[in-house]
Amino acid sequence: MSATPERKPRLTPSDIRARKGGVPVACLTAYTTPMAKLVDRACDLVLVGDSVGMVLHGLPSTLGVTMEMMVLHGRAVARGVDHACLVVDMPFGSYEESPQQAMRNAARLLAETGCQAVKLEGGRHMAETVAFLVTRGIPVMGHVGLTPQAVNVLGGYKVQGRGADGDRIADDAAALAEAGAFAVVLEKLPEALGTRISRQIAVPTIGIGAGAGCDGQVLVVDDMLGIFSDFKPKFVKRYEEQGVAAARAIAAYADDVRNRRFPAAEHGFSE
Ligand code: KIV
Repeated sequence: MSATPERKPRLTPSDIRARKGGVPVACLTAYTTPMAKLVDRACDLVLVGDSVGMVLHGLPSTLGVTMEMMVLHGRAVARGVDHACLVVDMPFGSYEESPQQAMRNAARLLAETGCQAVKLEGGRHMAETVAFLVTRGIPVMGHVGLTPQAVNVLGGYKVQGRGADGDRIADDAAALAEAGAFAVVLEKLPEALGTRISRQIAVPTIGIGAGAGCDGQVLVVDDMLGIFSDFKPKFVKRYEEQGVAAARAIAAYADDVRNRRFPAAEHGFSE
């Protein structure tokens, strides 16, 4: 009998790409080492999303997220991930200017965090940048539909792709896949459009509010655990109410301290 525990092989962007039409890809975000360890045990892909700005730093949108924040959280998450494919978001302003700007910042994310791929937002207009990165050794995940970094142009966090706009978003997803993206996130689209794009493009679609026809699903981990409760988008399923449990525990602690019930004898040290 071997004393070495069995280790699952590390999933790569190519492995995720090969899941097209197979078992759906399970993906969650993570921003810290302890959460990354939990997500890594169960999921295929861990995303260090720029949602970190809103979820952990209390920012009003993702627009204030910096490269330094993504490097810091990317490194923390990388320490907790052994099995899943690790993707780090490119923050607003770090890639839109030119393929060269994107290359510099994506290379920094790979080199300084140990992630295997980057994700960037935008459709056909980002295809040239995606091809530039992929041909130079940087796997890219696309993101179309509701792209939160464009919230000021989109006029809010609304469902995208209703009516004729659906064709444009389908074209955006196709352009990214043709440019070499290994997967494309579809955010907040009508279910029928999510299914149509998933049937049309050759790489896995990872849905968030884009219906069950996608090739995989992603959620913000703090949303599905009920920790981030400032608002709850319709597409989030709450698997736990950890925010409620934490508030109860913290109130009980404060009450114990004020009433001298904590610390008890078992929490102290003898001479
Ligand atoms: O920033 C993020 O967490 C994301 C996912 C929700 C897709 O982009």
